[in-house]
Amino acid sequence: MEVRRAVLEDSKAIRTIYNHEVLNSLVTLDLIPRSEAEQRHWIAEHSGVYPAIVAVADNSVCGFASLSPYRARAGYSTTVEDSIYVDSNYRKRGVGTALLNNILLLANQHGFHACMARVMANHQASISLHESCGFLLVGIEREVGRKFGKWMDVALLQKLL
Ligand SMILES: CC(C)(COP(=O)(O)OP(=O)(O)OC[C@H]1O[C@@H](n2cnc3c(N)ncnc32)[C@H](O)[C@@H]1OP(=O)(O)O)[C@@H](O)C(=O)NCCC(=O)NCCS
Repeated sequence: MEVRRAVLEDSKAIRTIYNHEVLNSLVTLDLIPRSEAEQRHWIAEHSGVYPAIVAVADNSVCGFASLSPYRARAGYSTTVEDSIYVDSNYRKRGVGTALLNNILLLANQHGFHACMARVMANHQASISLHESCGFLLVGIEREVGRKFGKWMDVALLQKLL
């Protein structure tokens, strides 16, 4: 498996992985699938200091991860938030771990000081993945999200880089 920076040509694969979760799961609070134009814009926005990376196996993209600004106010600019998605056919094989370790390496190289993760509080796979890479639970935000008629608690995790 290769991990590399995302390019515009990865748009369709990233969008397919992401929109599957938007439409079928509670792991993201996005409610409307991304269009091709939105996905390409997202890749362009994640081509610099806030990168997006992809994992490639069997000649196709099987997962992606990204860093985004944590908060808009200038004093938060040393902190980033991660995002990570693996194709359902490739889970539990170490792809998520490889992506998270690589995006943390880039966060470090880009000079950020802290990385945050917001994860649905009942999403044990993502919480365990983050804890296995050194994240600690900060706390739980109660019923801050709503999707498919359910209130969602969100766990906030953090790693100092
Ligand atoms: C969460 C996710 C990224 C994990 O990716 P993955 O490639 O399956 O993760 P890995 O194989 O590297 O597993 C790493 C660790 O995560 C934990 N983990 C992964 N899947 C798990 C599961 N189903 N249940 C419990 N723990 C799990 C384990 O601690 C595992 O370590 P181990 O294999 O030594 O037990 C993947 O399930 C996914 O993409 N889910 C949908 C999208 C999503 O939820 N993204 C996160 C949004 S916050």
